[in-house]
Amino acid sequence: MRLPNKVAIITGGARGIGQAIAELFAKEGASVAIWDVLDEGEETAANIRALGGKAKFMKVSVTDLDAVTNGMKAVAEEFGKIDILINNAGITRDRTLLKMSNEEWDQVININLTGVFYCTRAVVPYMKEQGYGRIVTAASNVGIRGNYGQTNYVATKAGIIGMTKTWALELGKFGITANCIAPGYTQTPMTELIPKEIAEQAVKHIPVRKIAEPIDIAYGYLYLASDEASFVSGICLPIDGGTSR
Ligand SMILES: NC(=O)c1ccc[n+]([C@@H]2O[C@H](COP(=O)([O-])OP(=O)(O)OC[C@H]3O[C@@H](n4cnc5c(N)ncnc54)[C@H](O)[C@@H]3O)[C@@H](O)[C@H]2O)c1
Repeated sequence: MRLPNKVAIITGGARGIGQAIAELFAKEGASVAIWDVLDEGEETAANIRALGGKAKFMKVSVTDLDAVTNGMKAVAEEFGKIDILINNAGITRDRTLLKMSNEEWDQVININLTGVFYCTRAVVPYMKEQGYGRIVTAASNVGIRGNYGQTNYVATKAGIIGMTKTWALELGKFGITANCIAPGYTQTPMTELIPKEIAEQAVKHIPVRKIAEPIDIAYGYLYLASDEASFVSGICLPIDGGTSR
C-alpha cells in the first residue's frame, strides 16, 4: 500500500477523475473525504466502503468559505488529521472571447481558482501543525498551451500552475509539498458533451492516439500524494499522451 493511514480530501470526487482518485487512494490505504456538490458523491463513497475502504461523502462547495472551513474541521475531528488535499473540482463554460459573458467568466474563476485558494488556505494550518502535507491540484494541459474558446478556463489552469510554484516556495519548510497535474483529454462527464467528430479530430493530435481514462490521471495524483514524492514540489506534471512537449 502506498498511502497507509493517510487522510485525504478530494474535491469534486463524486465522478470523473476525482472519483478515480478517491477509489485508488482508498485502495492504497487512505481514508478519503469526498467533497462535492452532487449527491452521487454518496454513491461513490458507499462503493468504496463496500470494497472495504474508508470513505465519507460531504456536501461541500469549494466556493462556500464557511463550508470549506467547517469541512476541514469535521475531517480533522473524524479522521484525526489531514495529510493530503486534492484540489480536483473544476468546471468549464466555453465560449470564444467576444461571446463570453461576465457570468461565464465569474463562474469558472470562482470554482476553479477561488475554490482552490479557499481549500488550500484552510488546509495548510492542519498540515503545518503536523509538519507534513501533500497538496495536488488539477491544472490542465490547456493551461500550458492555451485553447480555443476557453479564455476563462485557461486563465484558471495557468493560474493554478503559478499558485502551485508559489506554495512550493512558501510551504516547503513546513514539510508540505505542492504540485499540480496537467491532464490532457480524458473521458469523463466533463468531456462527454464534446461532439464525436471533434473528439475524433482531437485524438489525431495526441501522440499516443487515444483519450485518457480517469485512472490514467489518478496514478499521477497517487505518486505526487505519496511519501515517495517527498523531493518533488512546485511542478506541473503533464499526463496528456505526449501533447505538451
Ligand atoms: N476531463 C478532462 O479532459 C480534463 C482535462 C484537463 C483537466 N481536467 C480537470 O480535472 C478536474 C476533474 O475533471 P473531470 O473531467 O473529472 O470533470 P467532471 O465534471 O466529471 O467532475 C468534476 C467534479 O467537480 C464537481 N464540482 C463542480 N463544482 C464544484 C464545487 N463548487 N464544489 C465541489 N465540487 C464541485 C462536480 O460536481 C464533479 O463531480 C477538473 O478540475 C478539470 O478541469 C479535466
